Amino acid sequence: MAYNFEFYAPTKVIFGKGAETEIGRHAKTFGASNVLVVYGSGSAKRSGLLDRVESSLHAAGIAFQELGGVVPNPRLDKVYEGIRMGKAYNTDFLLAVGGGSAIDTAKAIAYGLAETEHDVWELFAHTRMARKCLPVASVLTIAAAGSETSRGCVITNECTGEKRAYDDNLARPKFAVMNPEYTKTLPDYQTQSGCVDIMMHTMERYFTNGGNMEITDALAEGLLRTVMKNAVKLHHQPGNYDARAEIMWAGSLAHNDLTGCGNDGGDFMSHNLEHELGGMFDVTHGAGLAAIWPSWARYVRKECLPRFVHYARNVMGITAEGSDEEIAEAGIQAMEDFYRSIGMPVNLGELGIHPTNLQIEEMADRCLAACGNHTGSAKKLTREDMIHIYTNARNSK
Ligand code: NZQ
Ligand code: ZN
Repeated sequence: MAYNFEFYAPTKVIFGKGAETEIGRHAKTFGASNVLVVYGSGSAKRSGLLDRVESSLHAAGIAFQELGGVVPNPRLDKVYEGIRMGKAYNTDFLLAVGGGSAIDTAKAIAYGLAETEHDVWELFAHTRMARKCLPVASVLTIAAAGSETSRGCVITNECTGEKRAYDDNLARPKFAVMNPEYTKTLPDYQTQSGCVDIMMHTMERYFTNGGNMEITDALAEGLLRTVMKNAVKLHHQPGNYDARAEIMWAGSLAHNDLTGCGNDGGDFMSHNLEHELGGMFDVTHGAGLAAIWPSWARYVRKECLPRFVHYARNVMGITAEGSDEEIAEAGIQAMEDFYRSIGMPVNLGELGIHPTNLQIEEMADRCLAACGNHTGSAKKLTREDMIHIYTNARNSK
């Protein structure tokens, strides 16, 4: 049965070659007069993109300051630095040049500047909701997190090791400039981690026990097949523009909520379990998801069997006959084979980490605290379930 839903995807997308030349004009349309440009550890500077973005702002008569040095699994101290800068320069618009980490840092700064009387971390600790947020936009350089059109924002508190998400439509970006050419400088590991993240945003919404629609399934399955096909292409031909374009657009559609319309909001426990890996071990988000998903899938599949069979048939192309259990397992196995074929890990050892039993218990405690009542839809996980999944992911070969 289809659940009621609201679909809100207001971000203007400017997609294709040369898209960055019009940034100043678009920013002006959305009222920007004093922009804080947020970027990462150097890739945007090295490629010359940052210069082109700033030239476009300059040509449109828009003042700007730069805040560089955002790292993957972006840190709260950089957010505070941005809030201090924004106050000093009267920032009225945030422009991220980069991926999920730069965009999420810009979103968090935008929340902080809109309500300077509060500590922005309270949003991520879920002790209050935001009432306001400054406008945010992005120039995307990696297809992965989907933050360029999503309501999500994920920040790591480096003092406590907590990596936490805050989701709110207030931070949906005003516009996203997406030129697939920018992504050609990515190392293969980052390209493929991005592909996994895109797939996982779709799969989190697909493996549910609450509400499904044929149209949503068709979009999700088509998106997954397209990403798999083009991830393999890019593994062998990293300069393939069309494959990069397919992946980049898929990244936005996978996380702007389109593939969740009509269901209960999705499972999202692979993400929640992975966020603890990111907080404790600073792993690359997409690779962490690939490493945890097979153990999660085997642990929960009995409780969501029809969806796993559907997935095995329609996404992984399993045609063999057998019991539902056997078909579901064949689908999971095929996914593992696919991840390995693009150089992605399928367990924690392959991810390069070996958590102790104590660390696993700590991650389960933190995950439970972060999730509150929302511990899954395919199967609602308890603390013990989480410990089993982490342990299986650590012990599997
Ligand atoms: O910092 P620079 O020098 O730019 O290097 C980055 C970084 O090392 C590099 N990179 C990006 N574009 C490049 C490039 N290198 C060469 N050429 C380019 N064109 O790639 C590395 C990863 O960048 P990052 O921004 O961290 O990647 P991603 O987009 O995967 O973002 C990951 C973050 O987003 C969060 C993740 O948890 C993680 O913290 N997520 C955010 C979501 C959201 N806001 O809706 C949802 C996701 O599920 C996810 O949790
Ligand atoms: Zn993700």
